[in-house]
Amino acid sequence: MDILLYNIGELASLSSGDVSKPLSGADMSDYENLVSEPGQGILISDGLIVKISPEEELLEEFAPDSDNNKSSHVELMNIEGRAIIPGLVDCHTHLLWSGDRSNEIRMRQNGLSYQEISEQGGGIAKTVESTRKSSRDDLKRIGRKNLTKSSTYGTTTLEAKSGYGLSVDSEIKLLEVSNRLHGENQNVMSTWLGAHDFPKDKTHSEYMDELIHEQLPLISENKLSNWIDVFCEPGWFNLEQTELLVKSASEYGMKSRLHVDEFVDSGGLSLAAELKSCSADHVGYSNVDSRDKAHNSGTMQVFLPGTPYVLGKDLGNGINECLENNWNFSLATDFNPNCQTLSLPFVASLATHRIGINPLTALIACTRNPASSLNSELPKCVGSLYEGGPADFNILNSQYIDYWCQTPGDNPIYKTYFSGSIVKL
Ligand code: NIG
Ligand code: FE
Repeated sequence: MDILLYNIGELASLSSGDVSKPLSGADMSDYENLVSEPGQGILISDGLIVKISPEEELLEEFAPDSDNNKSSHVELMNIEGRAIIPGLVDCHTHLLWSGDRSNEIRMRQNGLSYQEISEQGGGIAKTVESTRKSSRDDLKRIGRKNLTKSSTYGTTTLEAKSGYGLSVDSEIKLLEVSNRLHGENQNVMSTWLGAHDFPKDKTHSEYMDELIHEQLPLISENKLSNWIDVFCEPGWFNLEQTELLVKSASEYGMKSRLHVDEFVDSGGLSLAAELKSCSADHVGYSNVDSRDKAHNSGTMQVFLPGTPYVLGKDLGNGINECLENNWNFSLATDFNPNCQTLSLPFVASLATHRIGINPLTALIACTRNPASSLNSELPKCVGSLYEGGPADFNILNSQYIDYWCQTPGDNPIYKTYFSGSIVKL
């Protein structure tokens, strides 16, 4: 039966203009065009939004017999004045890994750098060791547990990177598991991050060969991912290696989303722009010229403020630079063994309460903008609410949409719908 939602508070449809395109600058603060006053209704059929109109019109047309929340034509849902926002889109997560690195906080506080922790047996290599030992079933359980957390915080589309395998079998295992989780409670879009680090049992050139001549052809042949990611940072993959990997993947029709300029400005964002990567993430230390170049090449800059937050670093000024210059940007969680949050409302709270952007701007950076770098692999554009689009949305515990990122440590979400059905956790 079709569903008719009424008695909705504010409604952030975010659907002005071409919904497949991101918004930037002042357009991200356009409450008038992006948010409706209370009184709109939403009609849902077969997982899609059929109509968004004033509720009296919808009730009259689709539930003429409505009485006491009941109609024989549609299922009536009284939202009791709560606000609605689109399903959140987390475009950067390391969804699948096992093990525990909670001891690293004290190493950091004792002055060890990320690189030094890695040299002392911690870091990515430690997670690789435990993840390699996990079976597909173990990883599926871990994945479902993590996805449940992410759903609880309102995410309906999530990107999931491999990268804690670093061998042919284990990278394939990770991607097979994340692909299998797609569509259960949310869209799961898998990215191949075989180039997350160099495994201890191979020389750098041996591993580069394995990535290009063994992992890549298998990933492509088995259609395990449409994207390559590389951790491009001094001490990990350098600019030449990154370029070679991205160009090799593009011969298989794969696009790139890259980790760049997390600790220093090594020219990573500039390279991502030259390679026309669809997304360049971290970008904390990127310079303004490379930000401009990225915007012009259609490369989405993705800020991950949860990571500098847990690493005890400054959140930087990149987001404000993007806003002032009308450059596209997004926010994501970067969920990983160091940054253990799958809550976009929390990440947006950092951007709102610590960097000073408004809640609507933060919402666009967690919905429509990240969606623009993932939509090509989905049947319909996600990240906004429009007629004909997927019925992926969140009902908040407030009448105001601004509430969505103002409960750090607590959950602002009342209920989440994915494909027209309530997500049951
Ligand atoms: O995006 N920096 C590279 N990768 C992850 C962290 C990996 C790890 O520490 O396990 C990130 O922050
Ligand atoms: Fe990451």
